[in-house]
Amino acid sequence: MKARVEKVFRHLDPKPDALLIANAVDPHLDQTFFYLFAVPCGLFEGSVAIAHADGEVDILSSPLEAESAEQAAKGDPHVKIHVVNRGDDTELLVQKLVGGARALALNYRELTHEWFTRLVKFLPEATFADASNAIRRARVTKDPEEIARLRKAADIGSAVGREIPSLLREGITELELAAEMEYRMNRLGASGRSFSTIVAFGPHGAEPHYQPGATRLASGDSIVCDFGALYERYASDITRSYHFGRRDEELKRVHETVEQAQRAALEAIRPGAPAKEVHLAAQRVIDSSPWKGRLIHGVGHSIGLVVHDGWGYNATVDDLLEEGMAITVEPGIYLPGHGGVRIEDDVVVTKSGYEFLTTAPRSYLEVPA
Ligand code: GLY
Ligand code: MN
Ligand code: MN
Repeated sequence: MKARVEKVFRHLDPKPDALLIANAVDPHLDQTFFYLFAVPCGLFEGSVAIAHADGEVDILSSPLEAESAEQAAKGDPHVKIHVVNRGDDTELLVQKLVGGARALALNYRELTHEWFTRLVKFLPEATFADASNAIRRARVTKDPEEIARLRKAADIGSAVGREIPSLLREGITELELAAEMEYRMNRLGASGRSFSTIVAFGPHGAEPHYQPGATRLASGDSIVCDFGALYERYASDITRSYHFGRRDEELKRVHETVEQAQRAALEAIRPGAPAKEVHLAAQRVIDSSPWKGRLIHGVGHSIGLVVHDGWGYNATVDDLLEEGMAITVEPGIYLPGHGGVRIEDDVVVTKSGYEFLTTAPRSYLEVPA
């Protein structure tokens, strides 16, 4: 992954001698490790990546994923695998591989304090600097291999989005529906979910980050399903909203307004556009409807090796969109005590606008009870 190392180094100022990424124990794994070394499977707890200014990467892997590591490195002449046991062996090898490098860049946003304390101790000559902004800037635009993985993750999410209406029946619980969705994602090739699946029935839909429970589906309920697949470590993020049984005229109109808000946001996407304009395009639609003020979150965020991949946008984010960014567009309207509607898609910013990654139908769907 020489090109990715070079991309991170381009954003680093001043230039360090090396960039060191260290994983702790799951879930404290820095996904930047997998950005620099695109191994599709394996846990890599305690592993270290040392990326040098010339684009070469040393990977310290435990014996637990050595085979996956060796396999992935076969396709990349710039990656060298070192299989080590935890603890002292790792420290001695890091000392050796860092060698004469004095100025080390670290990912302050992800490195655990324990790792930092160890590094200070066993690399007494080194100076450390924060690489987290450079890493974020490098990771926010995707290369073709990343887009291919994201597309597959989005295809899986979209396929399940199409299946959800057939899973709805009176009395199913939120957790049961979430389990069915996750099972289907794995059947389609996902290695897991990209975050805790949200299934919200009725009034629960008014809380964007609701956690599903034992509530049973009843006629007249709105349904918000927000979920995503992990495919070769890349995360999709899709939300579809449905209605079950007895019609609710207000929620039907709410859905139409959210569709319109999403279309307005999508039309604002192009390289060079201020990110806040995408948010504001959606907000203007919602704020000129009867549901003014009911958009209660930023309209999107970048996706990648994690579902919230380090960058998001709202009415105050001046950053400009760049070609190759993979982002969500997810306006919603939330009505406490009643229900909610959110429509979320994943797109890639292209030369002239955007391209959808997620493809499941977005229009209002009433499922008979
Ligand atoms: N899945 C949480 C979100 O859409 O940001
Ligand atoms: Mn999202
Ligand atoms: Mn989501």
